[in-house]
Amino acid sequence: MQEGGGSLAGSWAPGVVEARSIADVGAEPVVERLPTGIGEFDRVLGVSPDGVAGIVPGSVILVGGEPGVGKSTLLLQAAAAWATRGTRVLYVSSEESAEQIRLRAERLEVGLPRELYLLAETNLERIAEQARKVRPRVLLVDSVQMVFAPSVESAPGSVSQLRKCGSELVMLSKTTGVSVVLVGHVTKDGQLAGPRLLEHLVDAVLYFEGERMHAGRLVRAVKNRFGATLELGIFQMTGTGLREMSDGPAVAADQARPGSVICPVIHGSRCLLAEIQALTATGFLGAAKRKSSGLDANRLAMIIAVLEQHAGMRLADRDVFAQAVGGLRVIEPAADLSLLLAVAGAERHQSLSPGVCAIGEVGLSGHIGRVTQMDKRLVEASRIGFSKVLVPWDERIEARVGLDLIGVRSVQDALEHLG
Ligand code: TYD
Ligand code: MG
Repeated sequence: MQEGGGSLAGSWAPGVVEARSIADVGAEPVVERLPTGIGEFDRVLGVSPDGVAGIVPGSVILVGGEPGVGKSTLLLQAAAAWATRGTRVLYVSSEESAEQIRLRAERLEVGLPRELYLLAETNLERIAEQARKVRPRVLLVDSVQMVFAPSVESAPGSVSQLRKCGSELVMLSKTTGVSVVLVGHVTKDGQLAGPRLLEHLVDAVLYFEGERMHAGRLVRAVKNRFGATLELGIFQMTGTGLREMSDGPAVAADQARPGSVICPVIHGSRCLLAEIQALTATGFLGAAKRKSSGLDANRLAMIIAVLEQHAGMRLADRDVFAQAVGGLRVIEPAADLSLLLAVAGAERHQSLSPGVCAIGEVGLSGHIGRVTQMDKRLVEASRIGFSKVLVPWDERIEARVGLDLIGVRSVQDALEHLG
């Protein structure tokens, strides 16, 4: 579609598209991508078959998140990174002045690259006019809720304004080849008319998650025409902006605590080690609490039932709390075995030995079943320093990546490893 490199001549030329027979449509051309060099962000934007990650020219990305989570910080870091590599960026702020953005850039120590253009503007027509003049390859609009089209009467942020601004910017992107990144604020209760309305218009939707009081930040792709969904970018908010945490939340292979079990889980294209924690406490028969955070509540209920039926564990009058640590959402059945061992370990005050983690799906019969992408999980466990892994019995057990694999057939088999 357009030339790579710094030349802008290829973009901003209206393309002519004609209907063709499917027989005449060639194989999909290799999609060119513009990387920022911030690996955790590029991967969430998507990876080409040739291994290049980044934004696709002419695509529209929506980045949603609560106010204060760090959207502007990340996008300014990304904008500066693109510009430093020679990709021209126009950063439109509808909330801050150009001077404020420059100050922030200085604080973030991202440099002041020539190819990064700033514009403080809320009028959509003037934004488009400046974009035509500057001819960036990436246009950032932070935030789209404060932008208005003069032809629409309602206030900025209203449903009709958002629709109009969203579709105009998509049109601009499709006709000129500029990549557009829209920032949208969401509130916890989804009050603000906003990002949801734009989701169907755009090529990719990334949600930025994190608690203001905690440093961990996750960027999650919930829709992506040019990449894998469930892909996750992991960052930490520091005094100088967002720092990449490519290994995921820190997990220590050598510690063993009752109620804590590590499981390698798949997030998009990569494997991360997740710590599953559980706690049991005195509850009331018939009204025992089952609470989970970052885990599937139904699987927790199922695991408790399996422990009662197949391991003779009495939990009917015990409150059970379980969570995935570090803000990760672990909903894979492959984490069942870890969750089961965490709950049983919490109840019995027992743990797996240091350096041991667990992978397996727990069936209603108490059978431990096989999971997908076992090799990837084992490689990651080994890399982080685990030496032994409990795996489903039917898994072909060969010495793999220097790990000691222990096959477990049933829940009772697995519980024998707690001590
Ligand atoms: P911001 O990117 O402005 O959030 P959003 O655009 O999503 O509303 O981030 C705001 C918060 O991040 C603010 O409370 C301060 C904090 N912060 C840092 O901790 N370190 C930094 O280097 C920066 C720029 C912000
Ligand atoms: Mg902001």
